[in-house]
Amino acid sequence: MFNAKHIVITGGSSGLGLELAQRLAAEGARLTLLARDPQKLEQAASDIRRQAPTAQVKVQAVDVCDEEATLAAMQQIAEQNDGIDMLINSAGILREGSFGQSSPKDFRDVMEINYFGLLNSSRAALPYLLQSRGRLVNIASMAGFTGAYGYSAYCASKHAVVGFSEVLRFELKPQGVQVHLVCPGEFDSPMVDDIDTYRSAENRAHTQTIPKASVESIAADTLAGIRANRYLIIPGRTARMAGFVVRHFPGLMRLLGDRTITRVQRSRQTPGGAA
Ligand SMILES: NC(=O)c1ccc[n+]([C@@H]2O[C@H](COP(=O)([O-])OP(=O)(O)OC[C@H]3O[C@@H](n4cnc5c(N)ncnc54)[C@H](OP(=O)(O)O)[C@@H]3O)[C@@H](O)[C@H]2O)c1
Repeated sequence: MFNAKHIVITGGSSGLGLELAQRLAAEGARLTLLARDPQKLEQAASDIRRQAPTAQVKVQAVDVCDEEATLAAMQQIAEQNDGIDMLINSAGILREGSFGQSSPKDFRDVMEINYFGLLNSSRAALPYLLQSRGRLVNIASMAGFTGAYGYSAYCASKHAVVGFSEVLRFELKPQGVQVHLVCPGEFDSPMVDDIDTYRSAENRAHTQTIPKASVESIAADTLAGIRANRYLIIPGRTARMAGFVVRHFPGLMRLLGDRTITRVQRSRQTPGGAA
Protein backbone atom coordinates (compact mmCIF):
# COMPACT_ATOMS: atom_id res chain seq x y z
CA MET A 1 0.00 0.00 0.00
CA PHE A 2 2.81 2.45 0.81
CA ASN A 3 5.39 1.20 -1.70
CA ALA A 4 6.81 4.11 -3.79
CA LYS A 5 4.34 6.57 -2.22
CA HIS A 6 5.75 9.93 -1.19
CA ILE A 7 4.94 10.49 2.48
CA VAL A 8 5.68 13.69 4.42
CA ILE A 9 5.94 13.38 8.21
CA THR A 10 6.03 16.45 10.46
CA GLY A 11 7.80 15.59 13.71
CA GLY A 12 9.51 12.79 11.77
CA SER A 13 12.79 13.16 13.68
CA SER A 14 11.56 11.69 16.97
CA GLY A 15 9.11 9.46 18.82
CA LEU A 16 6.03 8.34 16.91
CA GLY A 17 6.91 10.26 13.72
CA LEU A 18 10.29 8.52 13.55
CA GLU A 19 8.84 5.08 14.34
CA LEU A 20 6.24 5.51 11.58
CA ALA A 21 8.99 6.66 9.20
CA GLN A 22 11.08 3.56 9.95
CA ARG A 23 8.16 1.24 9.28
CA LEU A 24 7.07 3.08 6.12
CA ALA A 25 10.65 3.08 4.78
CA ALA A 26 10.78 -0.69 5.28
CA GLU A 27 7.64 -0.91 3.11
CA GLY A 28 9.29 1.04 0.27
CA ALA A 29 7.76 4.48 0.85
CA ARG A 30 9.67 7.63 -0.21
CA LEU A 31 9.87 9.85 2.84
CA THR A 32 10.39 13.50 3.66
CA LEU A 33 10.78 14.25 7.36
CA LEU A 34 10.09 17.74 8.74
CA ALA A 35 11.11 19.16 12.13
CA ARG A 36 13.02 22.18 13.45
CA ASP A 37 16.37 20.72 14.50
CA PRO A 38 18.49 19.81 11.40
CA GLN A 39 20.88 17.62 13.40
CA LYS A 40 18.08 15.50 14.84
CA LEU A 41 16.63 15.21 11.33
CA GLU A 42 19.96 14.02 9.84
CA GLN A 43 20.36 11.54 12.70
CA ALA A 44 16.84 10.20 12.10
CA ALA A 45 17.49 9.82 8.36
CA SER A 46 20.74 7.94 8.93
CA ASP A 47 19.05 5.66 11.53
CA ILE A 48 16.37 4.85 8.93
CA ARG A 49 18.96 4.20 6.19
CA ARG A 50 20.91 1.92 8.55
CA GLN A 51 17.79 -0.22 9.10
CA ALA A 52 16.59 -0.06 5.48
CA PRO A 53 19.66 0.61 3.27
CA THR A 54 17.55 1.21 0.13
CA ALA A 55 15.27 3.69 1.89
CA GLN A 56 14.64 6.99 0.10
CA VAL A 57 14.52 9.54 2.88
CA LYS A 58 14.95 13.29 2.70
CA VAL A 59 14.79 15.86 5.45
CA GLN A 60 13.71 19.48 5.60
CA ALA A 61 14.23 21.73 8.64
CA VAL A 62 11.16 23.89 9.15
CA ASP A 63 9.15 25.24 12.05
CA VAL A 64 5.52 24.38 11.29
CA CYS A 65 4.44 27.46 13.28
CA ASP A 66 5.93 29.58 10.50
CA GLU A 67 3.11 29.62 7.95
CA GLU A 68 5.14 31.10 5.05
CA ALA A 69 8.14 28.83 5.59
CA THR A 70 5.91 25.74 5.84
CA LEU A 71 4.10 26.67 2.63
CA ALA A 72 7.39 27.22 0.77
CA ALA A 73 8.92 24.00 2.13
CA MET A 74 5.88 21.91 1.20
CA GLN A 75 5.80 23.39 -2.33
CA GLN A 76 9.47 22.59 -2.86
CA ILE A 77 9.10 19.08 -1.42
CA ALA A 78 6.08 18.35 -3.64
CA GLU A 79 7.79 19.66 -6.79
CA GLN A 80 10.92 17.58 -6.15
CA ASN A 81 9.02 14.36 -5.38
CA ASP A 82 6.11 14.22 -7.85
CA GLY A 83 3.57 15.47 -5.33
CA ILE A 84 2.52 14.19 -1.92
CA ASP A 85 0.52 10.99 -1.32
CA MET A 86 0.21 11.22 2.46
CA LEU A 87 0.89 13.84 5.13
CA ILE A 88 1.34 12.65 8.71
CA ASN A 89 1.06 15.50 11.21
CA SER A 90 2.96 14.23 14.24
CA ALA A 91 4.83 17.40 15.33
CA GLY A 92 3.77 18.43 18.80
CA ILE A 93 4.82 19.51 22.26
CA LEU A 94 3.56 18.77 25.76
CA ARG A 95 3.58 20.92 28.90
CA GLU A 96 2.32 19.81 32.29
CA GLY A 97 1.19 22.13 35.07
CA SER A 98 -2.05 23.16 36.74
CA PHE A 99 -3.88 26.08 35.15
CA GLY A 100 -2.83 28.32 38.05
CA GLN A 101 0.85 27.49 37.48
CA SER A 102 0.76 27.80 33.69
CA SER A 103 1.57 31.09 32.01
CA PRO A 104 -0.33 32.55 29.07
CA LYS A 105 2.84 31.83 27.04
CA ASP A 106 2.61 28.10 27.89
CA PHE A 107 -0.91 28.09 26.42
CA ARG A 108 0.11 30.04 23.32
CA ASP A 109 3.19 27.86 22.66
CA VAL A 110 1.22 24.61 22.90
CA MET A 111 -1.65 25.91 20.76
CA GLU A 112 0.76 27.44 18.24
CA ILE A 113 2.53 24.13 17.55
CA ASN A 114 -0.10 21.47 18.22
CA TYR A 115 -3.00 23.24 16.51
CA PHE A 116 -1.81 26.09 14.27
CA GLY A 117 1.30 24.15 13.20
CA LEU A 118 -0.88 21.21 12.14
CA LEU A 119 -3.18 23.66 10.36
CA ASN A 120 -0.24 25.22 8.49
CA SER A 121 1.20 21.93 7.25
CA SER A 122 -2.28 20.64 6.29
CA ARG A 123 -3.04 23.82 4.33
CA ALA A 124 0.34 23.69 2.59
CA ALA A 125 -0.06 20.02 1.58
CA LEU A 126 -3.76 20.20 0.63
CA PRO A 127 -3.41 20.99 -3.11
CA TYR A 128 -1.06 18.01 -3.53
CA LEU A 129 -3.27 15.66 -1.47
CA LEU A 130 -6.25 16.67 -3.64
CA GLN A 131 -4.18 15.94 -6.73
CA SER A 132 -3.09 12.49 -5.52
CA ARG A 133 -6.43 11.72 -3.79
CA GLY A 134 -4.18 10.97 -0.87
CA ARG A 135 -4.36 10.76 2.91
CA LEU A 136 -4.09 13.25 5.77
CA VAL A 137 -3.18 11.68 9.11
CA ASN A 138 -3.57 13.88 12.19
CA ILE A 139 -1.94 12.65 15.38
CA ALA A 140 -4.16 13.98 18.17
CA SER A 141 -4.43 12.16 21.53
CA MET A 142 -6.91 10.69 24.00
CA ALA A 143 -6.46 14.20 25.46
CA GLY A 144 -8.52 15.34 22.46
CA PHE A 145 -11.61 13.59 23.89
CA THR A 146 -11.20 14.02 27.61
CA GLY A 147 -9.43 16.03 30.31
CA ALA A 148 -6.38 15.03 32.33
CA TYR A 149 -5.03 16.71 35.46
CA GLY A 150 -2.30 19.23 34.58
CA TYR A 151 -2.98 19.19 30.82
CA SER A 152 -5.22 22.26 30.41
CA ALA A 153 -3.07 23.67 27.58
CA TYR A 154 -2.37 20.30 25.93
CA CYS A 155 -5.99 19.02 26.12
CA ALA A 156 -7.32 22.29 24.67
CA SER A 157 -4.89 22.01 21.73
CA LYS A 158 -5.76 18.36 21.06
CA HIS A 159 -9.52 19.05 21.33
CA ALA A 160 -8.92 21.67 18.62
CA VAL A 161 -7.17 19.06 16.44
CA VAL A 162 -10.12 16.67 16.91
CA GLY A 163 -12.65 19.36 15.93
CA PHE A 164 -10.57 20.38 12.91
CA SER A 165 -10.22 16.77 11.75
CA GLU A 166 -13.96 16.08 12.15
CA VAL A 167 -14.73 18.94 9.75
CA LEU A 168 -11.94 18.08 7.27
CA ARG A 169 -13.23 14.52 7.10
CA PHE A 170 -16.61 15.80 5.83
CA GLU A 171 -15.07 18.32 3.43
CA LEU A 172 -12.34 16.16 1.92
CA LYS A 173 -14.07 12.79 1.61
CA PRO A 174 -16.15 13.86 -1.44
CA GLN A 175 -12.90 15.07 -3.02
CA GLY A 176 -11.19 11.72 -2.56
CA VAL A 177 -8.88 12.59 0.35
CA GLN A 178 -9.07 10.23 3.33
CA VAL A 179 -8.61 11.87 6.74
CA HIS A 180 -7.39 9.77 9.67
CA LEU A 181 -7.60 10.94 13.29
CA VAL A 182 -5.18 9.08 15.57
CA CYS A 183 -5.80 9.32 19.32
CA PRO A 184 -3.19 7.42 21.34
CA GLY A 185 -2.97 7.21 25.10
CA GLU A 186 0.44 7.76 26.67
CA PHE A 187 3.39 5.97 25.05
CA ASP A 188 7.16 5.91 25.55
CA SER A 189 8.89 8.77 23.72
CA PRO A 190 11.29 11.67 24.34
CA MET A 191 8.20 13.86 24.94
CA VAL A 192 7.16 11.71 27.88
CA ASP A 193 10.76 11.35 29.13
CA ASP A 194 10.81 15.14 29.33
CA ILE A 195 7.61 15.63 31.37
CA ASP A 196 8.61 12.69 33.58
CA THR A 197 11.28 15.02 35.01
CA TYR A 198 8.76 17.47 36.46
CA ARG A 199 5.16 16.30 36.21
CA SER A 200 2.78 16.15 39.19
CA ALA A 201 1.87 12.86 40.86
CA GLU A 202 -1.78 13.61 40.04
CA ASN A 203 -0.98 13.90 36.33
CA ARG A 204 1.08 10.71 36.29
CA ALA A 205 -1.62 8.66 38.06
CA HIS A 206 -4.47 10.14 36.00
CA THR A 207 -2.86 9.77 32.56
CA GLN A 208 -1.55 6.32 33.33
CA THR A 209 -5.05 5.01 34.15
CA ILE A 210 -4.41 3.51 30.71
CA PRO A 211 -1.00 1.79 31.05
CA LYS A 212 1.80 3.45 29.06
CA ALA A 213 2.24 1.74 25.65
CA SER A 214 5.36 1.24 23.55
CA VAL A 215 5.90 3.55 20.56
CA GLU A 216 6.29 0.42 18.39
CA SER A 217 2.79 -0.83 19.23
CA ILE A 218 1.28 2.65 18.67
CA ALA A 219 2.94 2.91 15.24
CA ALA A 220 1.90 -0.63 14.23
CA ASP A 221 -1.75 0.01 15.17
CA THR A 222 -1.72 3.41 13.45
CA LEU A 223 -0.55 1.89 10.16
CA ALA A 224 -3.06 -0.97 10.52
CA GLY A 225 -5.84 1.62 10.96
CA ILE A 226 -4.70 3.53 7.87
CA ARG A 227 -4.59 0.32 5.84
CA ALA A 228 -8.13 -0.48 6.97
CA ASN A 229 -9.26 3.05 5.89
CA ARG A 230 -10.42 3.76 9.45
CA TYR A 231 -11.11 7.43 10.26
CA LEU A 232 -10.77 7.21 14.05
CA ILE A 233 -7.74 5.21 15.10
CA ILE A 234 -7.21 4.58 18.81
CA PRO A 235 -4.07 2.43 19.04
CA GLY A 236 -4.02 -0.33 21.68
CA ARG A 237 -6.84 -2.48 23.04
CA THR A 238 -6.96 -0.89 26.52
CA ALA A 239 -6.90 2.61 25.05
CA ARG A 240 -9.68 1.62 22.62
CA MET A 241 -11.82 0.42 25.54
CA ALA A 242 -11.06 3.62 27.47
CA GLY A 243 -11.88 5.65 24.34
CA PHE A 244 -15.25 3.91 24.14
CA VAL A 245 -16.01 4.72 27.79
CA VAL A 246 -14.82 8.33 27.38
CA ARG A 247 -17.11 8.91 24.41
CA HIS A 248 -20.17 7.00 25.61
CA PHE A 249 -19.96 7.27 29.41
CA PRO A 250 -17.98 10.46 30.07
CA GLY A 251 -19.46 10.75 33.59
CA LEU A 252 -17.90 7.40 34.52
CA MET A 253 -14.47 8.55 33.30
CA ARG A 254 -14.79 11.74 35.37
CA LEU A 255 -15.70 9.70 38.46
CA LEU A 256 -12.68 7.41 37.98
CA GLY A 257 -10.44 10.45 37.44
CA ASP A 258 -11.77 12.16 40.59
CA ARG A 259 -11.04 9.02 42.60
CA THR A 260 -7.51 8.70 41.23
CA ILE A 261 -6.70 12.34 42.01
CA THR A 262 -8.22 12.13 45.53
CA ARG A 263 -6.19 8.97 46.23
CA VAL A 264 -2.94 10.68 45.20
CA GLN A 265 -3.68 13.80 47.25
CA ARG A 266 -4.70 11.80 50.34
CA SER A 267 -1.55 9.68 50.16
CA ARG A 268 0.50 12.88 50.07
CA GLN A 269 -1.18 14.08 53.28
CA THR A 270 -0.57 10.73 55.02
CA PRO A 271 2.82 10.66 56.81
CA GLY A 272 5.08 8.36 54.77
CA GLY A 273 2.59 8.40 51.86
CA ALA A 274 3.85 8.51 48.29
CA ALA A 275 4.04 11.94 46.64
N1 LIG B 1 4.07 10.51 23.70
C1 LIG B 1 2.82 10.37 24.09
O1 LIG B 1 2.51 9.79 25.16
C2 LIG B 1 1.70 10.89 23.20
C3 LIG B 1 0.39 10.49 23.49
C4 LIG B 1 -0.64 10.93 22.66
C5 LIG B 1 -0.37 11.74 21.58
N2 LIG B 1 0.92 12.13 21.34
C6 LIG B 1 1.17 12.99 20.20
O2 LIG B 1 1.99 12.28 19.28
C7 LIG B 1 2.78 13.21 18.54
C8 LIG B 1 4.23 12.78 18.60
O3 LIG B 1 4.64 12.79 19.95
P1 LIG B 1 6.01 12.12 20.41
O4 LIG B 1 5.79 11.60 21.78
O5 LIG B 1 6.50 11.24 19.34
O6 LIG B 1 6.90 13.46 20.56
P2 LIG B 1 8.47 13.72 20.38
O7 LIG B 1 9.25 12.46 20.46
O8 LIG B 1 8.78 14.84 21.34
O9 LIG B 1 8.56 14.28 18.89
C9 LIG B 1 8.01 15.52 18.55
C10 LIG B 1 8.48 15.87 17.15
O10 LIG B 1 7.86 17.11 16.76
C11 LIG B 1 8.87 17.99 16.26
N3 LIG B 1 8.41 19.37 16.48
C12 LIG B 1 8.09 19.96 17.65
N4 LIG B 1 7.75 21.23 17.45
C13 LIG B 1 7.85 21.47 16.11
C14 LIG B 1 7.65 22.60 15.28
N5 LIG B 1 7.28 23.78 15.78
N6 LIG B 1 7.87 22.47 13.95
C15 LIG B 1 8.26 21.30 13.41
N7 LIG B 1 8.47 20.19 14.15
C16 LIG B 1 8.27 20.27 15.48
C17 LIG B 1 10.12 17.62 17.06
O11 LIG B 1 11.34 18.00 16.45
P3 LIG B 1 12.03 19.45 16.74
O12 LIG B 1 11.95 19.68 18.21
O13 LIG B 1 13.42 19.31 16.21
O14 LIG B 1 11.24 20.44 15.97
C18 LIG B 1 9.99 16.09 17.04
O15 LIG B 1 10.42 15.59 15.79
C19 LIG B 1 2.53 14.59 19.14
O16 LIG B 1 1.59 15.29 18.36
C20 LIG B 1 1.94 14.25 20.51
O17 LIG B 1 1.13 15.28 21.02
C21 LIG B 1 1.96 11.72 22.11
